Amino acid sequence: MKKIDDFPKDTSGYSKLEFLRPFLGWKSVFGVNNPEWHSQRSLLNKAFVSNNIFFQPMCKKINTFLSKWENQEKVCVGNDLQKLTLDVLACCIFGVDFDTLNGKLSEPLEAYNYSLKAVFNPIRLIFPSTTKLPLKSNKEMFKNINIFDKYCWKMMEETKKRMEEKKNGDIFIDNDERPAKSLIEMMYENNLPEQTVRDNLSIFFLAGHETTFNSLGWLLAILVSHPDIQQKARQEILDKIPEEVTFDSIKELPYIDGLIKEGLRKFPPGGSITGRKAAKDIVIGNIQIPAGTGIIINLLSMSNDPKIWGDPDVVRPERWFSENITKEQRTAWMPFSNGPRICIGMNFSLMEQKIFVVYLLKRFHQLKLAPNGKITPRLGGFGTYCPDTDMMIIELEKSK
Ligand code: HEM
Repeated sequence: MKKIDDFPKDTSGYSKLEFLRPFLGWKSVFGVNNPEWHSQRSLLNKAFVSNNIFFQPMCKKINTFLSKWENQEKVCVGNDLQKLTLDVLACCIFGVDFDTLNGKLSEPLEAYNYSLKAVFNPIRLIFPSTTKLPLKSNKEMFKNINIFDKYCWKMMEETKKRMEEKKNGDIFIDNDERPAKSLIEMMYENNLPEQTVRDNLSIFFLAGHETTFNSLGWLLAILVSHPDIQQKARQEILDKIPEEVTFDSIKELPYIDGLIKEGLRKFPPGGSITGRKAAKDIVIGNIQIPAGTGIIINLLSMSNDPKIWGDPDVVRPERWFSENITKEQRTAWMPFSNGPRICIGMNFSLMEQKIFVVYLLKRFHQLKLAPNGKITPRLGGFGTYCPDTDMMIIELEKSK
């Protein structure tokens, strides 16, 4: 993973998957190789250098969300977590308030959800030429992709307008408690071509919430199915943060850190890293990899391998305590990938998950799976590995 030029993204398949282009595009940081990748990544990294600018907007959205849950004794998780993570992303990264939690943005969001499911339908990926057939399902897919695409361009236009209005300086928290300079503004200021801005927007829209909402789903699943873990996690929070939750107060929570890492180990939302190929003949250990070989890293099997983890089926946050974790285990844990192309939003997502768990367990004295609730895995859009949240029905008991 460290030698990204030896194992670049396999861009040769893009032309076959032409139907994906108007949805996700090929020019984003996710899709390109060096030298283009390096110049985009160095710029985009700047938006993620200081996590503390995201703290307030994240807390605000998470609390709005939990207040809704507080008014209910039983919730069907459904797409609530998707809306939460999308609203957090939009505030922190796009500099706008989608407010999907209050029912806004429903048309583009529905179009996005429809498109995601449609483009990652295995039949279309294996037989891309079927997307050219005059079928009703294809027409629906392209109609929805078009709605989402138009929304991306609209967001870009609105950003340009805002930039004209406020010609201010560096990234800081503005009056609405969100970073004053959005990722889109940064891209425009650095003169990235319009299509590159658009493709990054859609890739950030997808990568920036889809995986985190799956992780939150798994965390909820762990908490409701392991009352002992739930109790230990809550106790750590009550002991360490008896008062207000601050950026500094969430730093020293080893059990919660272990819980989040354990969730990502047992259920890595990405499932696997795909779409790489060997750029030349390469030898790793005693394995010879001829140039052009396609590479897939199976994250799910690596982080559930008994040879590495001993008892991988057991969810045990303590395994992450410094005295317990081995070097091999640390290396095998790569839900965010590794090396220079490691997920750009890793720390962003880890903090969002932590704030979520902290407030959740502070605000609710007990969380239980309802008798009619179920925890079942399913394959989400973009090949993500997620719990079926439509079946997750949770009983909530408010803290006094
Ligand atoms: C639990 C949450 C997340 C997980 C498990 C995750 C996982 C990953 C993985 C495995 C990759 C590497 C993919 C590859 O090389 O094929 C990746 C890349 C990426 N992720 Fe994430 N991600 C998460 C959250 C986020 C967030 C919150 C953002 C944005 C705010 C984000 C944006 C990106 C981008 C732009 C890339 C491409 C980076 C590059 O190629 O340089 N991700 N992510």
